[in-house]
Amino acid sequence: MGMERTLIIVKPDGVQRGLVADILGRFERRGIKLVGLKLIQIDRATAERHYAVHAAKSFYGELVEYITSGPVVVAVLEGPKVIEIARSMIGKTRPNEAVGGTIRGDLAVEGLRNLIHGSDAPETAAEEIALYFRDGEVLDYTRSVDHWVVG
Ligand code: RTP
Ligand code: MG
Repeated sequence: MGMERTLIIVKPDGVQRGLVADILGRFERRGIKLVGLKLIQIDRATAERHYAVHAAKSFYGELVEYITSGPVVVAVLEGPKVIEIARSMIGKTRPNEAVGGTIRGDLAVEGLRNLIHGSDAPETAAEEIALYFRDGEVLDYTRSVDHWVVG
């Protein structure tokens, strides 16, 4: 089974609201393996690279302001189909449209303040992981529980 990695960011609102453990705990409880983790403040240049795809959008400036406005937690998750699984756990972009049971649907209410980012495809995941983690900061290790989780 193909292993994937995805980049998760608990955005500044998630850190400020004390939701880091709740959000990361959901992935842990699901059985997903954590392979990278740190608390950082994203600088403007990195934010502009991360959101380059949205550079022409009306909300781009506000988006860069938001993601650089305070500390964030960046994490790398690894597992089969982890990109799709994480996106489904995160929920729809606009929290008012996100269904209950998802991170945004349970914990957020308003447009831009949607708590968390998750990569949307293998190519973007690889680029985003390289943006926030150096070689050696994403760890390769085995868990005995994987026998029960992945099967
Ligand atoms: P993310 O990249 O942050 O994980 O969110 P996403 O895939 O669900 O949404 P995406 O389309 O990639 O948009 C990135 C972020 O831009 C803000 N946004 N605002 N005002 C708007 O219409 C609008 N659309 C997007 C959100 O903060 C979204 O997370
Ligand atoms: Mg996105």
